[in-house]
Amino acid sequence: MPGRLEGKVAFITGAARGQGRSHAIRLAQEGADIIAVDICQNIDTVTPFYPLGTEDEMAETVKQVEALDRRIFARPADVRDLEQLQTVFDEGVAELGRVDIVVANAGIATYGLSWELTSEQWKDMIDVNLTGVFHTAKVAIPALIAAGRGGSIVFTSSIGGLKGIQHVGHYVAAKHGIVGLMRTMANELGQYSIRVNTVHPTNVDTIMIQNPGTYSMFAPGDPEPTQEKAMAGFASLNTLPVPWIEPVDISNAVLYLSSDEGRYITGVTLPVDAGAYIK
Ligand SMILES: NC(=O)c1ccc[n+]([C@@H]2O[C@H](COP(=O)([O-])OP(=O)(O)OC[C@H]3O[C@@H](n4cnc5c(N)ncnc54)[C@H](O)[C@@H]3O)[C@@H](O)[C@H]2O)c1
Repeated sequence: MPGRLEGKVAFITGAARGQGRSHAIRLAQEGADIIAVDICQNIDTVTPFYPLGTEDEMAETVKQVEALDRRIFARPADVRDLEQLQTVFDEGVAELGRVDIVVANAGIATYGLSWELTSEQWKDMIDVNLTGVFHTAKVAIPALIAAGRGGSIVFTSSIGGLKGIQHVGHYVAAKHGIVGLMRTMANELGQYSIRVNTVHPTNVDTIMIQNPGTYSMFAPGDPEPTQEKAMAGFASLNTLPVPWIEPVDISNAVLYLSSDEGRYITGVTLPVDAGAYIK
């Protein structure tokens, strides 16, 4: 049986690991070839909390996609750098022949009470999680329109793109911001059969939450926060009795939105959140 994305090419940012890697693998399992980018270096304001993706991690993504007999064009690129992103995207399309699906997944998390965030934390967050998503869409949209085959664009927002969450005001602002961009682009691009949607995960089991910064958010005031101490806090976010969900749960939503099964779905904010939004 042919895959649900046979013959398609997907452009995925933040693909070195975590959800981005999972998306690359899941879409490849359904027949897509992949253009993958990741910053593959650290950003100063994130370093106190956790390291960003590496070239070794990107090499692992490449290995896992190739093991599925799919092609992957993977390069380091920073979504904050429009020119660099455009160059890598264009090279990827030249190599793989087309683009059909865009997944703006790259993102960072840092922590602090909103009025105590530094200007640098605020700036890096908006630059990566809001402007980076704009850049990702911007570099790909002309190629999608020119090909005349329609397409799917998915932005990875968060439950924090639908409601306020303490200690991540800058993250919440950026994740709400991309919802506005999605709604606008969905209106602008409908005439080309290009659909634009956001996915809104609750906690996902990646290093972005599995680090002392997040543990301290869920165990405030504790001098030595651990996963165990944060467990009840993680779970308290969700309606279903789980502390977090798996990257593949988000990949399956991205796959649905990007396949023909989602062909009339556009402008939608899709929570994949164990009921966190309704709580
Ligand atoms: N983990 C969660 O609980 C959770 C919940 C809701 C939403 N999200 C969102 O999901 C997305 C994926 O996060 P994840 O959980 O896989 O975390 P992750 O840290 O494992 O993956 C994010 C990837 O993005 C890359 N990246 C960061 N800045 C970049 C830049 N400027 N240019 C290019 N690449 C960059 C990182 O190197 C990393 O490989 C993010 O947008 C995040 O905000 C995560």
